Order: sequence, then C-alpha cells, then structure tokens
Amino acid sequence: MTAITSDIDKAAGVLRAGGLVAFPTETVYGLGANAEDSAAVARVFQVKGRPPSHPLIVHLGGAEHLGDWVEEVPATARLLAERFWPGPLTLVLRRGRRVALQTTGGMETVAVRVPDHPVALALLSAFGGGVAAPSANRFGQVSPTTANHVRTELGDAVDFVLDGGPCDVGVESTIVDATGEIPSILRPGGVTREDLEAALGRPLAVHSTSRIRVPGQHPSHYAPRAQVILVEPEDIAAEAESAQERGHQVGVFLPPAFADAPVKAHTVVAVPDSMAAYARGLYGFLRELDQRGCDLIIASLPAEEGLGLAIANRLRRAAGPRPTA
Ligand code: TXA
Ligand code: MG
Repeated sequence: MTAITSDIDKAAGVLRAGGLVAFPTETVYGLGANAEDSAAVARVFQVKGRPPSHPLIVHLGGAEHLGDWVEEVPATARLLAERFWPGPLTLVLRRGRRVALQTTGGMETVAVRVPDHPVALALLSAFGGGVAAPSANRFGQVSPTTANHVRTELGDAVDFVLDGGPCDVGVESTIVDATGEIPSILRPGGVTREDLEAALGRPLAVHSTSRIRVPGQHPSHYAPRAQVILVEPEDIAAEAESAQERGHQVGVFLPPAFADAPVKAHTVVAVPDSMAAYARGLYGFLRELDQRGCDLIIASLPAEEGLGLAIANRLRRAAGPRPTA
C-alpha cells in the first residue's frame, strides 16, 4: 500500500515549512521534522515528551547522501551501508555540520539510516533533505506500527500523517556505533547480529546496557500501560492463574510450544512460531492487551538469536521498573 503522490508532496511541503509529519518505515512509524531546522526538531521533542538530550535518527533517501551528513565515513560504515541500506540498520557516526545540534541531543555524533519503505523513500526524495525522526509515540511507550496507532496517540499534535499500511519488520532498527575501529551494537533491531557479523567477518559486542547515553537504554521503555512480567514458559499457566485469583485482568503471551496448554487468563495472545511474525506483531499485541483492559501481561523471552534478540530486548524494557512520577 502506498500513499498517493499528492499526499507525498503535501507532506514534503509540511516538512519544508517546519512542520511535523508522521510517516511509515519498514520498522515502525516515525515522527519527522527537517533535521536542519532546530525549531521543528524542538517540536518533535515537545510532542513526544522526550528529554531534549536524547538524540534522534536522521533518515536519508539513499546511501549516496551519507557523506553530506557525517564528518567522515569509515570503511566499516561504508561496507555496512552498502550491504544493509535501504534497511533497518542505523549507523552512529561523527556529526556533520549540517545536522542541527538539537537533532543529536547536543552530541558530536549522529545516527543515520535509509529506511526500506516506498512511502518513506518517496517522502525523502520529494523533500530532498534529511528527516530527523524518533518513533511516533510518547516517550517511553509502545512504538506505533500502523497509522492509526499514531493518530490515536498523537492526534492533532502532528501536522500530517502519511499512511503506508502496517510496518513489515515491527521492531526498530539495529543501531551500530561505527565511529570506532570495532563497531558495536547499541540497540538490537531489525538487522540481526548474525547478519552483521557475516558482513563484517568478525564478532560484534552488544552494548544494550552500556553507559552510553541513549534513551532506548532507559530501564522502562516500549512499555504498555499494563505491568509486564517475564517468567519461564512452563510457569506461565500457574502465574496467570494466581494473578487472576488476586484480581488481575491478565494478558498472556503464550509461546508456540505451549499453544495447547489450558491457560486461565482474560486474554491470551498466541505467539507466532516465526520470529519475523512475532516481531511484526509485538507492539500491536501489547497495545491490544491494554485496549482489552488487561492490567498485567505475562510473557517469556524467546531465544536470543536472530530477531529474537531484539524481541527479548523490547520485552525486558517493557518489563523494566517504571518511573515513579
Ligand atoms: O527503526 C527506527 O530506528 C525508528 C524509525 C522511525 O526509523 N526510529 C527510532 O527512533 O526508533 P527513536 O528515537 O525511537 O530511537 C532512536 C535511538 C535513540 O533511542 C538512541 O538510542 C539512538 O537512536 N541514537 C540516536 N542518535 C544517537 C547517537 N548520536 N549516539 C547513540 N545513539 C543514538
Ligand atoms: Mg522510540
């Protein structure tokens, strides 16, 4: 499904005028602003309720533009860009002058990626510049994977919403720090660690709990309203039953191996067998359990390989301690 050309032109005009456009990517919907316009970028932070020190990703229309936005392109970054763009990979590099400091949260590095979605690419091509965009949700909450999620959550705060149908990957891009000689994964995502390692010919460190200041690393993130607890798969049924008895409205993520187990819960989501389908559905499942009135979600972690690494990362964050304010 592609948005019509007049919508693309209108959205590009909104960006040029300093407005905000929500747009589809292959991972999740983004809340976009002109990456060179400090005031527009400031509004993104305001609409999201995100601390201004937390950097945004700059979206580009093609790998050929990379050199315009970063100070230098190390050989490793070049290799990864050629292999994985357009696609769910974000490279952190040294900031080029063109990028507004607001976009990078004041940092001297910048995160860039070329999204693999026809509507996003049409928008970027019509606009011509870089689009700074975080996921189009309020800070700390579940990322949107449909245009309706965006409208429900952000409503009139966005000037224009481009509808490109449901996102195909469903979890955010993999973020790789490519500033140094040895790249490392800052956030697991749509490109798997195994694919990156195959492309690089060497193992990669995963720093998903590093000291590096990145908002995705806040203990509670990607969180639905309901509390999320993680248990071993064989304990799900007993945990659900006891929580129901304590008066909770329980939502359960039931892994495929336990699909036939009798589970007493308010709502049961059958976790898909394939990790790609699980990633695609994950945020929608969390939203659905909230909508159905569940106040407790019981899930277990998938094997942390392939896309399972990103899914487990998001579930851990969703289950992380919530801010007390
Ligand atoms: O798939 C995605 O990456 C989506 C779509 C819209 O492209 N975007 C996304 O943006 O997930 P956001 O803002 O929700 O998460 C971007 C993450 C931040 O949490 C931060 O961890 C990292 O990008 N980031 C941005 N700039 C950085 C920098 N200079 N150094 C390290 N991390 C950075
Ligand atoms: Mg986000």
